[in-house]
Amino acid sequence: MRVVTMRKQKNNKQECLKMALLDVIKYGHPTLRKVAEPYTKEEVDAHFIDDMLETMYEEDGVGLAAPQVNVSKRLIVCSDHENEYVVFNPKIIANSEAVKSDYEGCLSLPGLNAKVERSEKVIVTGKDQNWDDLEIKANGLLAVVFQHEIDHLNGVLYIDRADLSTLAWTDAPVVDETLRQQPTTIEAIQHVFAKKYHKNSKDRVYEHHFA
Ligand code: NI
Repeated sequence: MRVVTMRKQKNNKQECLKMALLDVIKYGHPTLRKVAEPYTKEEVDAHFIDDMLETMYEEDGVGLAAPQVNVSKRLIVCSDHENEYVVFNPKIIANSEAVKSDYEGCLSLPGLNAKVERSEKVIVTGKDQNWDDLEIKANGLLAVVFQHEIDHLNGVLYIDRADLSTLAWTDAPVVDETLRQQPTTIEAIQHVFAKKYHKNSKDRVYEHHFA
């Protein structure tokens, strides 16, 4: 996930030569619409975790889910400026009735944002990189990030939950100058993304088919 008024997180970036930036796949790539598989302890790979974190910070993200780097497995990484979270097989076990609506963006939908209503507080369980049990009580931005990232593991994107009347191109430089800060539609962004990111691909999947 990417928030609109993002502070630079480069100072948090751990410098390590073994780290590598991963390619973040974009809306239309079929992996984003798949339900990701659970992890087993044996599959935990410290290098992959480092690469996920490095990629998240490099892209100024506050969260990244493994399917976004084309690994259809249940792993998310998040950062709320203070703490870093690595959660395998994350699950929301409780969420507040109180909701809040705020703008969200996503590294897989660069240059866009829209308002999404989310629970203000959630409790997330899962496993950490040592396969110890985790229970995280999150509120504010972190609660939103967890909901957004766990959605990715179920093939759900924020645009599925957003108030589409607020869907707009940001002022991000990745966007065509004429589109900046302009309202848009799902159909229009599918067209733009098909041209920009999936020119040579025939198996584009934009819709989520709920079972
Ligand atoms: Ni996202």
